[in-house]
Amino acid sequence: MKQWVDRLRIEKSLPSEGYRALLTCRDAETMEYLHRQAREVAYTYFGNRIYIRGLIEISNCCRNNCYYCGIRKGNTHIERYRLSQETILECCTQGYELGFRTFVLQGGEDRLQSADWIEETVSIIRKQFPDCAITLSLGEYPPEEYKRFFRAGANRYLLRHETYNQEHYSLLHPVEMSWKHRISCLESLKNIGFQTGTGIMVGSPGQTVEHLIDDIHFISRLRPEMIGIGPFIPHQDTPFGNQPAGSIEQTLILLSIFRLMHPNALIPATTALATLAPNGREKGILAGANVVMPNLSPGNERKKYELYNNKASLGAEAAEGLSILRKQLQTIGYEISTEKGDFWKREN
Ligand code: 5AD
Repeated sequence: MKQWVDRLRIEKSLPSEGYRALLTCRDAETMEYLHRQAREVAYTYFGNRIYIRGLIEISNCCRNNCYYCGIRKGNTHIERYRLSQETILECCTQGYELGFRTFVLQGGEDRLQSADWIEETVSIIRKQFPDCAITLSLGEYPPEEYKRFFRAGANRYLLRHETYNQEHYSLLHPVEMSWKHRISCLESLKNIGFQTGTGIMVGSPGQTVEHLIDDIHFISRLRPEMIGIGPFIPHQDTPFGNQPAGSIEQTLILLSIFRLMHPNALIPATTALATLAPNGREKGILAGANVVMPNLSPGNERKKYELYNNKASLGAEAAEGLSILRKQLQTIGYEISTEKGDFWKREN
C-alpha cells in the first residue's frame, strides 16, 4: 500500500486502482504515512505557514434548490438577508486591520445582487484595497459576466463541481441545474484568467468510490489553483436532512491525495471539516492543507448562512478569533501568514 503513496508523490498521479486502494484503505499506519508525505510536500512549498482568507457571506438568497444545501430556495425556515456594499466594505476594513489580504465574497445565486452590482462592489473593494486579492464564490454566471468581474478586479473564483458523475450530479440537484453548464463555467473561469478553485463534498448522498476516482481524474485535467474538499453534513430543512455525514478519514485521505498530485495548489482545511471533527482544522493541515478561511461576515447574519447544521462560525472560525486560531496552529507547529498568498507556479 505504501508503494502507491510513494508512487503518487513521485509521479503525481496513479492508475485508478491506486486511488481505489488508498480511498478504501482502513489501515491507520498507511494513512499516517500518506498524511506525512502530503504534509512534507506542503512544507517544501509553503513552509509552516498557513494562508488566511476572510470569508464574507454576502447573501443567503438563492435561486437554486440543491438538495444538500441549507440556503436552498425551498427552505422556508430561514431568514434571508443581503449585505449592502457599505457593510461589505466595513467587513473588508475590519479584516484588513486584522491582517487579512484576501477577501472571499461568497453567496447564493441571488439575482437581486445583480451582475452590475457585483461588478461595482468588486471595483470599489479593488480601489480601496489595492494590495488585496478578491475571491468570488457566487455560483454560475455567463462567461461575459465572469469577464466583467475579472476586469473589475476580482482575481480568484471558487466554484465546486460537486461531482463529476452526471447521474450523481442529478441526484444532488434538481433538473433545472445542469452538470454541463457547471463544468463549462469552470472552463470559462480558467480561460478568463481567474485563479480557479473547484472541489467536492465527501460522502454526499449516493457518492461512490468510483465517483471520487472520476473527481480526482477531472481535477487532475483541470489543474485548478485551489481545491476545496469538505465532508457533507446534513441540514435538517433539506431533502437530505436524514442522510449520514461524510467521513472525516476519507476527507483527509482525499486532501492528502490532492496535495501529492498538486504540490503547489491552495487547499483549505474547510469549515465543514472543522465543524464535523474536533480538531478538524488541525487534522486537515496535518494532511496537507495550507489555507484556512475564517468568517468575516457581520455577527448578526452569521447564523443565517447555514449551509449545513451547526456550521462553525465562532472561535477560531471567526476572523476576530484570529488569536485562538494562531494558538491552535502553534500547537501543531504552524503559523499564520498574512501574505496575499497567490497561486505560485514553480517547476517541481
Ligand atoms: N454539507 C457540506 N458542504 C455543503 N455545501 C453546501 N451544502 C453543504 C452541506 N450540506 C458546500 C458545497 C458548496 C459550498 C459553498 O458549500 O460544496 O459548493
